[in-house]
Amino acid sequence: MRTPIVAGNWKMHKTIAEARELVNAMKNDLAQLAATGKVEIVLCPPFVSIPQVAELVKGMPIKVGAQNMHWEAKGAFTGEVSPTMLNEICDYVIIGHSERRQYFAETDESVNQKVKAALAHHLKPIVCVGENLTQNEAGQTQVVVSAQVHAAFKNISRDDARGIVVAYEPIWAIGTGKAASGAGANSVIGLTIRGALAEMYDEGTAQTIRVQYGGSANAKNVAEFFAQPDIDGALVGGASLVAADFITICKTAVK
Ligand code: 13P
Repeated sequence: MRTPIVAGNWKMHKTIAEARELVNAMKNDLAQLAATGKVEIVLCPPFVSIPQVAELVKGMPIKVGAQNMHWEAKGAFTGEVSPTMLNEICDYVIIGHSERRQYFAETDESVNQKVKAALAHHLKPIVCVGENLTQNEAGQTQVVVSAQVHAAFKNISRDDARGIVVAYEPIWAIGTGKAASGAGANSVIGLTIRGALAEMYDEGTAQTIRVQYGGSANAKNVAEFFAQPDIDGALVGGASLVAADFITICKTAVK
């Protein structure tokens, strides 16, 4: 049985003061939900707010994640944040988000390097994959997503792979209000993503790894995703910035 994981990716939103306000507005409800053991809940604020958010949820069953990191432990990499800096206060790190691939030149190779570095520093990676609109319309979803999974998991052992979370985020659904259908996302996750993992490892491993859906997931539509057999929670952008909505999403995951 895979425990669903709901993560809020705040992207570049909320000042430190606003982050404090948002976390205070939802932490008690989220902690109660997470305490059931039926959902894992992760908050991924911008780097500057991570220490504050970690402090606010200290002692609660709520996890904290970063939205990116460098693969080196330290060094002359101006503006970057390393896994050793994050693992003091984070449990998770999002890697290879499509916005990083699109605007910050992240490649399948850098994603793989980062996944390995995260694992080496005891951070759990949430690896994002997904096709863009042109690829989707050209019927290339399977080829594109499968290649991204193969690249992200390259040279990663079966044991390590089991601890990685994959987020299927079709780019055309991110921030557009046009979510995928539950059945459509389930089919890409079940056939393509688990299919690629089964090719690389084995069927048992493919069935163990948790795969979330992301892309315009909200309080109204998440039930459709959570009802799908191959979808294990959601990576939520916009709706994770509204306390009531994020609480509802986590509540829906527990039902
Ligand atoms: P939205 O939920 O705002 O579409 O963002 C999805 C996403 O990119 C989460 O990582």
